[in-house]
Amino acid sequence: MCDMKTRFEKIDSNNINKDIINEAGDIIKAGGLVAFPTETVYGLGGDALNAKSSEKIYAAKGRPSDNPLIVHIDNIDSLKEISDDVPDEAYKLADAFWPGPLTMIVNKNEKVPKETTGGLSTVAIRMPDDEIALAFIKAAGGFIAAPSANTSGRPSPTLAEHVRDDLDGKIEMILDGGQVGIGVESTIVDLTEGTPTILRPGYVTQEMLSKVLGDVDTDRTILEGTFAAKPKAPGMKYRHYAPKASMSLIEGDIEKIVSVMNSRYSEAKSKGLKVGIMCSSQIFDKVNGDVKKDLGNREDEREIAHNLYKVLREFDEEDVDIIYGECFSKEGFGQAVMNRLLKAAGFTVISE
Ligand code: TXA
Ligand code: MG
Repeated sequence: MCDMKTRFEKIDSNNINKDIINEAGDIIKAGGLVAFPTETVYGLGGDALNAKSSEKIYAAKGRPSDNPLIVHIDNIDSLKEISDDVPDEAYKLADAFWPGPLTMIVNKNEKVPKETTGGLSTVAIRMPDDEIALAFIKAAGGFIAAPSANTSGRPSPTLAEHVRDDLDGKIEMILDGGQVGIGVESTIVDLTEGTPTILRPGYVTQEMLSKVLGDVDTDRTILEGTFAAKPKAPGMKYRHYAPKASMSLIEGDIEKIVSVMNSRYSEAKSKGLKVGIMCSSQIFDKVNGDVKKDLGNREDEREIAHNLYKVLREFDEEDVDIIYGECFSKEGFGQAVMNRLLKAAGFTVISE
């Protein structure tokens, strides 16, 4: 791909510059790519109804083209423009959670090219809860295909600078709305087969979905390392969010984690390794490490999620050989946090 000049534009969400949003919309209509903030992570946007745009997204990310994209919309009515059989459940969920960090899978119609859905006959749709994103989607014609705006295999971007690090020279524009709020990707729920099923956990939990829909299942590959069963979200089969150093997670109560981290540290030091530690504020001062990163309060999974990808990217700048990370609760939103941590660690968990 030829190098192009990437425009970097700061946008104030309280006072959105309409001229820049319209220029971003025009880039999309002309088949170009624009990265933009959402409440979860930054997205890499292209025209979802233009096969060529989707091909460009895959090329810019270095992503396999069998991994489908999420179509972002700015109002609920757009659902029925790209799906001819929107189930009742979709409207119930949209009323409860949109705009918000929830993606629904429904059957697509012919308006959505196969290139956007990685060859599938279903399409993932979400309406993000971010004023800049909504204004941009509207200006661009209403259907923005957007994966997370990282190079394939790197942690998703939570700051515009992360997008620049990965995609500078490969896309037309980056809209900088500052650090995102949630910090991990949306919950994905499949509504196309029987019981609604969570394919990727996120801020909207199974419990929250069940209050609206009744029975909701969770794909069992989410917290297991075995991909023996084929994950239904094609993206879940790829190793994601991987830091450059090898990473192991340490499980147990808080005293246990401190003692195991410290003994692993001494062991690694004696082998001459440089050790990274990723832990909560609660144990930060009690553990030894050559490079230590504080993820925040372990009782507050929102804080941990907010910091997680930024910290993983910071480790890539340090030449540590090995990273030890702390395990957190898998309850509620903690399931999404642990799902991302486990994937980053290649499901390596130490429980002595
Ligand atoms: O929060 C988010 O969802 C962010 C922001 C930018 O909106 N987007 C995001 O997109 O995380 P991406 O492409 O990084 O992850 C999309 C996931 C992939 O695992 C993909 O396989 C799955 O959604 N997916 C997309 N369409 C699907 C479909 N029709 N059936 C099953 N899985 C699908
Ligand atoms: Mg992604």
